[in-house]
Amino acid sequence: MSVNVINPRNGLPLKKVGNHLMDEAGQQYPILNGVPRICELDNYTENFGVQWNKFARTQLDRENDGLHISRRRFFAETHWDREDLTGKNILEVGSGAGRFSKVVLENTMATLYSVDYSDAVTANYNNNNHIAPERFHLFQASIYELPFPDNAFDKVFCFGVLQHTPDFDASVKALINKAKPGAEIAVDFYPIKGWWTKINAKYILRPLTKRLSHDRLFSLIEGNVDWLIKAHFLLHRMGLGLLNRFLPVCNIKDSFPATLTQAELREWTILDTFDQYSPEHDHPQRIADVAKMFERHGATVTFAGFEPLSKEWSASVVRGVKRG
Ligand SMILES: C[S@@+](CC[C@H](N)C(=O)[O-])C[C@H]1O[C@@H](n2cnc3c(N)ncnc32)[C@H](O)[C@@H]1O
Repeated sequence: MSVNVINPRNGLPLKKVGNHLMDEAGQQYPILNGVPRICELDNYTENFGVQWNKFARTQLDRENDGLHISRRRFFAETHWDREDLTGKNILEVGSGAGRFSKVVLENTMATLYSVDYSDAVTANYNNNNHIAPERFHLFQASIYELPFPDNAFDKVFCFGVLQHTPDFDASVKALINKAKPGAEIAVDFYPIKGWWTKINAKYILRPLTKRLSHDRLFSLIEGNVDWLIKAHFLLHRMGLGLLNRFLPVCNIKDSFPATLTQAELREWTILDTFDQYSPEHDHPQRIADVAKMFERHGATVTFAGFEPLSKEWSASVVRGVKRG
């Protein structure tokens, strides 16, 4: 059974008419670059659209590198069984350039409904639509106005997104609303680990950097990335890794695979640094608080903690099952 696509504003079914989706009241949403756009195109996630189209393939798993970072992360964080996903309807919210969409389409026989609020959907469509067009339904839409009925999905996941939404609690509620009773929901997010979390160059500089034009921010990052990478590794070698929180660059050593070439490491660093300094919203949360949100909005928590992804890096994850 497929999931109905509806107009989130009035609940009416949307049908394809020419190059639009349209409801019976005549409201239309354009299909651009292959993807229906069920929201205003100009919104607070524009930075992500720019970022994911500029670095469309940077973080996609590659067949030949044997690393499969996104595949390992997806299964480590969801604990879902590939075989069990056959024929299931999965909702992915905030898919970016589609590294996890690719994992689902290539490793399962599930049908994937995926949304992102930004033009990152263009990159995702180009990266992944060819894999299984009959099992891939992609939309530009917001977590707060998803074009699907409530209680529709067998599984829901949302990775790396919730801290970038304006209202974390409302976002968790929106995800749980779309899950069927008994369905699993898995999320990961930036954690608050203690009072020191926000004592970090990112949180000090963001009020400024998020207001810069994307070109200006990219050129600042590109112009400084080489010495920042050197300084980052030097501090680690000197046993002063803790001081890296004061360098305006992403966490390179602990979150990137050690096998990246020099050029790849530079590209990943530019991407991740832009990803941290450009968003309008960055609201990390305590894991226990996110677990409470799950319980409050009708899901029983089955896991709330850190899932180890590598020797140095763990993701903060909450999983739950929607109550009937
Ligand atoms: C850091 S990226 C993560 C992308 C992808 N999940 C990944 O891990 O590669 C965060 C994504 O969340 C999306 N996003 C932010 N607010 C959103 C909202 N209200 N609804 C849907 N997506 C949203 C952004 O457009 C962006 O692509």
